[in-house]
Amino acid sequence: MLMESFVVEGPTPLQGEISVSGAKNSMSKILTASMLTAEPCHFQNVPAIGDTEITKEICCAVGAEFSQVEERKVRVQTAEIKAAEVPESLAKKNRLSVMMLAPLLHRHGCAVVPAAGGDRIGPRPVDFHLDGYQRMGAKVENRKDVYYLEADRLQGTEINLPYPSVTATENLLMASTLAMGRTVIRNAAIEPEVVDLALFLQKMGAIIDYQADRTFIVEGVSQLSGADHVIMPDRLVVASLGAAAIASRGDVFVKGARQADMLTFLNALRRAGGCFEIQQDGIRFFYEGTLKSVAIETTVHPGFMTDWQPPFTVLLTQADGMSVVHETVFQDRFVYVSQLQKMGADIQTYDSCMGTSSCRFANSGYRHSAVVRGPSKLRGADIDIPDLRAGFTYLIAAILAEGRSVIRGVEELDRGYEAIDKSLCSLGASISRQSV
Ligand code: EPU
Repeated sequence: MLMESFVVEGPTPLQGEISVSGAKNSMSKILTASMLTAEPCHFQNVPAIGDTEITKEICCAVGAEFSQVEERKVRVQTAEIKAAEVPESLAKKNRLSVMMLAPLLHRHGCAVVPAAGGDRIGPRPVDFHLDGYQRMGAKVENRKDVYYLEADRLQGTEINLPYPSVTATENLLMASTLAMGRTVIRNAAIEPEVVDLALFLQKMGAIIDYQADRTFIVEGVSQLSGADHVIMPDRLVVASLGAAAIASRGDVFVKGARQADMLTFLNALRRAGGCFEIQQDGIRFFYEGTLKSVAIETTVHPGFMTDWQPPFTVLLTQADGMSVVHETVFQDRFVYVSQLQKMGADIQTYDSCMGTSSCRFANSGYRHSAVVRGPSKLRGADIDIPDLRAGFTYLIAAILAEGRSVIRGVEELDRGYEAIDKSLCSLGASISRQSV
């Protein structure tokens, strides 16, 4: 198979205006949730990215029918669940197959879902999801890394998540909407993408409350109906573009960016000397003067999110002094650092906790803290993309770097960023896509 690469010539400051797409991590769960009803659902602001295509393939494999109404507008209807099994070949493409459990169990009584496995940012288990389903009365078996679940009707219950996992919360929210009685999910994730899903489920007829102490309370209903929804803007893409604009000493207006989703990111940016201006229809990110070193620690919402960490770290390579980054959500999220070192970044990773307190990964041997010394002059290099957010980080680094960089494995970037090469070129970057 041909591999695609980006050839980037730097350095170039990014300048201009760009629109943010719909959120990948909201779209995939909401499209899946539409399968809880036999009625049609309509969606706007569906991003034109690889993960949308993978989500559609997975949903279609069990009976959903999609039609593209117009650009970024999609109609979905699952009149009938035709199969209870997610094919293994699709389950490997992303981590979404486990989200099919709720529609399959509620409408088919059983579900067969292959394990997605770990990825390059950590092991990514689904034990919280499966424990939750078991507590709701499903029979759960794991045979050779394929999960078999059965339930006549899921029952409301109390679930205490060991950690506020985003997809486990979303999965169990979907499950509880049609369960018999009341489900209480404590220590739940409250990321804006989770709330976007809850809003869509409410439009479908679900009764979902949530409390300030990370608790969702769901009163099960007997059926859900079709609904329409506009997918929220992708706050991960906003942060990636904001970091790129400032690190490249540019000035970019991100149309559609919402301040409310970006509060913690904007605070960190301001502490680091990065400038932004909130406008009615978006956020302008711009460079003015020197960048300063800061300490950041990733955590669950409303904290500094883990997906913002790689692009922010490359921004810190341009800041004066020593910055410290403590990653507490995924144990192996600094895999991208070795290639940035190759480009001249001064970043060292450590297995100790370099934050306000120790995290789940203390004494685990995982290098989950980093010290970044800047400013560094980056130089072009040949690099391979290990995961989506790291891929964008390399693009920023290549845009800042002196000379030519070749970034391989851009299919990973296409999963989460809409035509990113064209978008960045429209802001002045020099990027060409090549097949090798
Ligand atoms: N965890 C478990 N057991 C579980 C579930 C999670 O131990 O059953 C642990 C994970 O290993 C991790 C922590 O809980 O250490 C948090 O993981 P979480 O479940 O919250 O992550 P996720 O739901 O798998 C989503 C996004 C990620 C984003 C994280 C954190 C999707 C499809 N993915 O992952 O996005 O980083 O939440 O906000 O929604 C990306 O878009 O590139 C991406 C990785």
